[in-house]
Amino acid sequence: MAKPSPSLMDKIVSLCKRRGFVFQASEIYGGMGNTYDYGPLGVELKRRIKEAWWNRTVTGRSDVVGLDSAILQSPRVWEVSGHVGGFSDPMVDCKQCKGRFRADKLEDARCLEKPSKRPGECSGELTEPREFNLMFQTHVGPVAETGNVVYLRPETAQGIFLNFLNVMNAARTKPPFGIAQIGKSFRNEITPGNFVFRMLEFEQAEMEFFVPPDDGMKWYEYWKQARFDWYVDLGVRPEKLRMREHSAKELAHYAEATSDVEYEYPFGWGELEGVAYRTDFDLRRHSEGSGTDLLYFDPQTKERYTPHVVEPAGGVDRMALTFMIDAYEEEELEKDTRVVLHFHPEIAPTTVAVFPLVKKDGMPERARELEAELRLARLTTFYDEKGAIGRRYRRQDEVGTPWCVTVDGDTLKEDVVTVRDRDSMQQVRVPTQELRAWIENSIRGWKRQPRSVVG
Ligand code: GAP
Repeated sequence: MAKPSPSLMDKIVSLCKRRGFVFQASEIYGGMGNTYDYGPLGVELKRRIKEAWWNRTVTGRSDVVGLDSAILQSPRVWEVSGHVGGFSDPMVDCKQCKGRFRADKLEDARCLEKPSKRPGECSGELTEPREFNLMFQTHVGPVAETGNVVYLRPETAQGIFLNFLNVMNAARTKPPFGIAQIGKSFRNEITPGNFVFRMLEFEQAEMEFFVPPDDGMKWYEYWKQARFDWYVDLGVRPEKLRMREHSAKELAHYAEATSDVEYEYPFGWGELEGVAYRTDFDLRRHSEGSGTDLLYFDPQTKERYTPHVVEPAGGVDRMALTFMIDAYEEEELEKDTRVVLHFHPEIAPTTVAVFPLVKKDGMPERARELEAELRLARLTTFYDEKGAIGRRYRRQDEVGTPWCVTVDGDTLKEDVVTVRDRDSMQQVRVPTQELRAWIENSIRGWKRQPRSVVG
């Protein structure tokens, strides 16, 4: 396996724009930094990733339920949680180029002058580090006053803690149990973002798992493994993933232990998801701050306790970027090179493309009928009749469609279609009555193939 080169990132960014996965936000106005819009295929990829996460984390288990809490909460929430006082990065400014950089990440930064150097290595002097809070503020009501400040949430987790009692009582559940949610979070990130890896506005998929205090470390180990496995099960190469335990110095203000699921991106190893043991920090702080006891009373032991929390917290945009990078291959063929995204079929934006071999003799009509049948069966489909069949296959390879179905003369006579596999490029004949079952079985049986060269 060849080592990834930095240009892989450029190729991904270009593919994303060309094929409608991700666009620069406000592009026609010159673009807005660290902000992106998802196009037709990107939105589908993200939707399917979120579905796969929800299926594994919530509906696939009996001990986790869902929530959708508000982005705007009482400002007291963020004071009590420690985000107003502690959710900040130490920043330094270069007096010459006016660039602002994270003091703890200077080795990864480049100053704004050309040729660019590391901040501090050019002739510009750096200021002393200053704490820069990452929360966006806005105001409720027509006048901006200190009394009506609200924050855009920087994590979805707090909405879960606030609803701990509501959910436990309504769902008639008890520890160990989890509350999961997927939603937007906002951070005033001013360091360069590496495309959708670091954005101002992003989606998180988080779950707070409430457990008896003595079981905290046991569940921490459990969720570390479970989250690592999820990525491998969805096709990510295990050798590109690692679990990294935080040192005491790195730990967030609320965590007793944290491990990151890291991926080896073209720009180096980076955090894909964090699994944190938050102890009873948040429930205790909100009990004190609100005056409402966020406790569990065990009717059997007559014991009353504040549950401890283990939190797997992933970013959906980082998941999408990771799945794309990991799936990308430039495969050398006899006469040319094909670009393929080897997505797991469960997250591929399109599951099956349907083509008529030629645009005549009733083939387009039969192909459209078949496509509609597959769509009715809740498979995501795409119909294409433009251009040579080989080019149509390549266009689907490039966006990761696992199977292409071609309607030809035999289909009209014998009701058989040709199904072409994205990964092996092999073709099989399948009777149309068996097509849906064939595809559904193939989704279940899909296995990651060894790859050749990554771009
Ligand atoms: N509730 C805990 C929490 O928010 P975090 O490690 O700060 O922990 C969790 O964030 C995940 O959210 C990260 O692992 C990452 O995938 C994603 N994330 C964080 N900041 C992000 C940003 N600025 N842009 C995109 N994703 C981000």
